[in-house]
Amino acid sequence: MAVTMDNAIRFMFILSVVYGAAYAKKSEAKVASAPSLVAAANTVFDITELGAVADGKTDSTKAVQDAWDAACGLAGSQKVVIPKGEFMTGSLNFSGPCKGYVTVQIDGTMFGSNDIPKYNKGNWIEILHIDNVLVNGSGTLDGQGAAVWKDECKILPNTLVLDYVKNGTVSGLKLVNAKFFHINVYMSKGVTIKNVTITAVANSPNTDGVHIGDSSEISVSDLTIATGDDCISVGPGSSWISIQGITCGPGQGISVGCLGRFKDEKDVTDVTVRDCVLRNTSNGVRIKSYEDVLSPITVSRLTFENIQMDGVANPVIVDQKYCPEKDCPEKKGSKTVTIKNVTFRNITGTSNTPEAVSLLCSDQLPCSGMELLDVNLKYNGKDNKTMAVCTNAKGISKGSLQALDCL
Ligand SMILES: *[C@@H]1O[C@H](CO)[C@@H](O)[C@H](O)[C@H]1NC(C)=O
Ligand SMILES: *[C@@H]1O[C@H](CO)[C@@H](O)[C@H](O)[C@H]1NC(C)=O
Ligand SMILES: *[C@@H]1O[C@H](CO)[C@@H](O)[C@H](O)[C@H]1NC(C)=O
Ligand SMILES: *[C@@H]1O[C@H](CO)[C@@H](O)[C@H](O)[C@H]1NC(C)=O
Ligand SMILES: *[C@@H]1O[C@H](CO)[C@@H](O)[C@H](O)[C@H]1NC(C)=O
Ligand SMILES: *[C@@H]1O[C@H](CO)[C@@H](O)[C@H](O)[C@H]1NC(C)=O
Ligand SMILES: *[C@@H]1O[C@H](CO)[C@@H](O)[C@H](O)[C@H]1NC(C)=O
Ligand SMILES: *[C@@H]1O[C@H](CO)[C@@H](O)[C@H](O)[C@H]1NC(C)=O
Repeated sequence: MAVTMDNAIRFMFILSVVYGAAYAKKSEAKVASAPSLVAAANTVFDITELGAVADGKTDSTKAVQDAWDAACGLAGSQKVVIPKGEFMTGSLNFSGPCKGYVTVQIDGTMFGSNDIPKYNKGNWIEILHIDNVLVNGSGTLDGQGAAVWKDECKILPNTLVLDYVKNGTVSGLKLVNAKFFHINVYMSKGVTIKNVTITAVANSPNTDGVHIGDSSEISVSDLTIATGDDCISVGPGSSWISIQGITCGPGQGISVGCLGRFKDEKDVTDVTVRDCVLRNTSNGVRIKSYEDVLSPITVSRLTFENIQMDGVANPVIVDQKYCPEKDCPEKKGSKTVTIKNVTFRNITGTSNTPEAVSLLCSDQLPCSGMELLDVNLKYNGKDNKTMAVCTNAKGISKGSLQALDCL
């Protein structure tokens, strides 16, 4: 077994956590009588010492799950290590609350099983109900999505999910070919995602890089994302979101939305997107809301600044008539999503279509407090001139290319 421990009592306690509850009672009593040992506990749970096989084929789900359960059950700083090598697993349930701080260090390559029914509609790696967790390493999470993307009607697992996490960090990893989203952050607070690379082919469906919903104080920085869907999407109920240093493309850009799709959605406020490069994406920075909104929400205090566009089809776009799947007979836009106080500052580079700026707000609820500051984009084709279309948008424009001054 796993360990940098030299103490027989602690060793038995770990065994008990891993191998059975009946055993645990006895050992816990011993540990409880020696609290200093527990406080000092600093255990490494190497999955290869718990039965994982580094051949990329053998199902190592149990070994990884056992490592987590043991680490989570101990006070102090605990570490689960996935060492160099190839490991295949199905659904992993990294649930808390944990007794101490757990680090999951992934240096090897993990492959997500393609046995979809076994995920039972859940996710691949789910980190749930935990305060204080770190997932890092130089390893790779390979969702092996290509084999299942065609099954679009099935519910496919996201690769890495943080649900109800407080004070969590994900760093260093590479994620490739998720079956669905690569990283999904939901109902969490104080999460940092940094120095991560995400790669899926341009025509892969629903492979969002990072999706954030119903969360606050989330920082996403220094990511390189190439995918088939949004590089980053910020959904309803998000506030105090900072997105910085993202290189995106191909993909559908960085989006706030979709909004107005489901009942009881919450507001989106205080989102900052800065210092990003978008290359060959279908959208640059986008706000999208459905026409047939079910509950009134407000989207406010968003800033997009210092963004370089390189051959982007719709570099700056607010679309309140987003309607990808069905006919929207009214075409009047959202009745209940209010968009206000949105600043686009220092947005430069090239647009693949003449319409570099589109602020398409609702006839029924115009956007207000919109700012286009130093927005200098050029259409990179022949014939047509760069242009902007603003409907129902109120605000100011300064320092921008004259043709883009539509406010
Ligand atoms: C995950 O683990 C937690 C805690 O052990 C348990 O309560 C929950 O039912 C598990 N979830 C699934 C889907 O197995
Ligand atoms: C956040 O979690 C890390 C461990 O991942 C821990 O070192 C740090 O003290 C925690 N911060 C707070 C404010 O609890
Ligand atoms: C993971 O985090 C730990 C604790 O902060 C740190 O010691 C280690 O260097 C990190 N590893 C990588 C690969 O970032
Ligand atoms: C980013 O992660 C890689 C491992 O994937 C690591 O080698 C590198 O040092 C990290 N960079 C920073 C700035 O932390
Ligand atoms: C742009 O992306 C499309 C797919 O979205 C791809 O076919 C094309 O080769 C890319 N162009 C460049 C210059 O990367
Ligand atoms: C504008 O944004 C670019 C990055 O796209 C950055 O290099 C430059 O410093 C920014 N200019 C100002 C005045 O902030
Ligand atoms: C927000 O926009 C409104 C116009 O809708 C404007 O009066 C107000 O000054 C703006 N607030 C900020 C903080 O920019
Ligand atoms: C671009 O120019 C072509 C003719 O060269 C014209 O048919 C087309 O409508 C123009 N598109 C836009 C968006 O102005």
